[in-house]
Amino acid sequence: MAGTSKSESTSAGRAPAQGSDAIELLLQDHEEVKAMFEKYEALSDRSIASKRRLALEICLALTKHTVIEEEIFYPAVREANRQNEDIVDEAIVEHASAKDLIAQIIGMEPTEDLYDAKIKVLSEQIEHHVGEEENEMFPKARNGKLDLESLGQEMMARKAEVQLPQTQ
Ligand SMILES: [Fe+2]
Ligand SMILES: [Fe+2]
Repeated sequence: MAGTSKSESTSAGRAPAQGSDAIELLLQDHEEVKAMFEKYEALSDRSIASKRRLALEICLALTKHTVIEEEIFYPAVREANRQNEDIVDEAIVEHASAKDLIAQIIGMEPTEDLYDAKIKVLSEQIEHHVGEEENEMFPKARNGKLDLESLGQEMMARKAEVQLPQTQ
């Protein structure tokens, strides 16, 4: 990639999203979504409006995240080493299952049966998935010949475009 300017590094505090490499960006997303699920757990059963708002925020964050992984990060990891095939395939299947739950949640009201259960199962599936990415896939990606800075920039730009999927 020609003419990539060196980003100023900040050593303290949270890294600004602008200067993040692809993996830092994904790790940041993982943390944010985990915090949102925890916030949802803490809501009272009567906070219907807050539940709906937060559930949609979670669905949007996960949609943006899965899109940038599937369109940009996973193909790069797959291409970097043929031995990464299986782990990327598995991640895509896990995403499909998350997308299915996300579509169901978007189409529901928090007062409906199984709404909380769907959020809970989604959070458990994501926790498992994130564990595999962070412990298996990301270390492989770090050791590969990937240009994580430019992938990160590409992912940031794409992330800004992605919206919630349309249901019905
Ligand atoms: Fe993922
Ligand atoms: Fe991820």
